[in-house]
Amino acid sequence: MQQFNDIASLRETLQHARRQGQRIALVPTMGNLHEGHLTLIAAARAEADLVVASIFVNPTQFGPGEDFDRYPRTLEEDCLKLMSAGCDVVFAPTPATMYPHGTEHLSHVHVPAVSEGLCGARRPGHFDGVSTVVSLLLHIVQPDIACFGEKDYQQLAVIRKMVMDLHMPVTIVGVPIVREPSGLALSSRNQYLTADERKVAPGLAAVLRDVKRTLENGGDISTAIDQGQQALVTRGFRPDYLELREAIKLTPVTDSTHNAVLLVAAYLGQTRLLDNTAVTLS
Ligand code: PAJ
Repeated sequence: MQQFNDIASLRETLQHARRQGQRIALVPTMGNLHEGHLTLIAAARAEADLVVASIFVNPTQFGPGEDFDRYPRTLEEDCLKLMSAGCDVVFAPTPATMYPHGTEHLSHVHVPAVSEGLCGARRPGHFDGVSTVVSLLLHIVQPDIACFGEKDYQQLAVIRKMVMDLHMPVTIVGVPIVREPSGLALSSRNQYLTADERKVAPGLAAVLRDVKRTLENGGDISTAIDQGQQALVTRGFRPDYLELREAIKLTPVTDSTHNAVLLVAAYLGQTRLLDNTAVTLS
């Protein structure tokens, strides 16, 4: 596995691969890798000749007071995991490499509508940071495909919309959520949880499952959502949102919506956890 910290030598290697007709896949990450990330590598491996993973804790997607400084940085362990997972190339730039002129007057990508509401409402500017850095990575690597987890459902929807609107020549692959046996979705932020909070955390997925069942059995949407929110509070969460949205554009559901997604963000202590599940409405 090759590791690059600068753009020029990464590009040279990738250009060589491309000239040989190799199909390139990109898996963008912020490191501190777990099975969820490694499943993205496996999905990329299945579709491409050359798998590139990026590891970059992107400052522009963190708001003031968020966890940018304490976000776990574990590059050495990450590289070992990537190597075992069959990754070919790691790109691990510094902020100065990605943003040599700083971030204050940076050209950026804003994806309207789908980036607003849900996590976009709680974290202003977050999705601009995400879409901009993903756009940079796509320009640098120029992959044929790029893999993203459904765990960050709104992020995936924002990236799909960006790629479509801007005619970016890349296929976006969404990968299902990897969960612990308890049902808890794997996340680098799970390690912020205390031992007691860890016991409560699987309740997030349990509430989603209950609300999904009620909705798919024809239950009233706003009653089911209210009950879900109550259940979260009873279990010890501070819900940020629990919402049912149309699956692609994330607009509110209407009578004609068939494919929906139930999305949740909730705090356990200081830690904000995300989860979601598909809901088929009849
Ligand atoms: P990060 O949180 O490191 O996640 C990297 C990728 O792993 C994302 O596509 C995310 O959805 C996926 N992922 C995380 N946990 C997962 C799980 N349990 N199951 C399946 N996939 C999972 O998301 C980011 O980084 C950043 O915003 C990034 C896209 C790299 C831009 O900076």
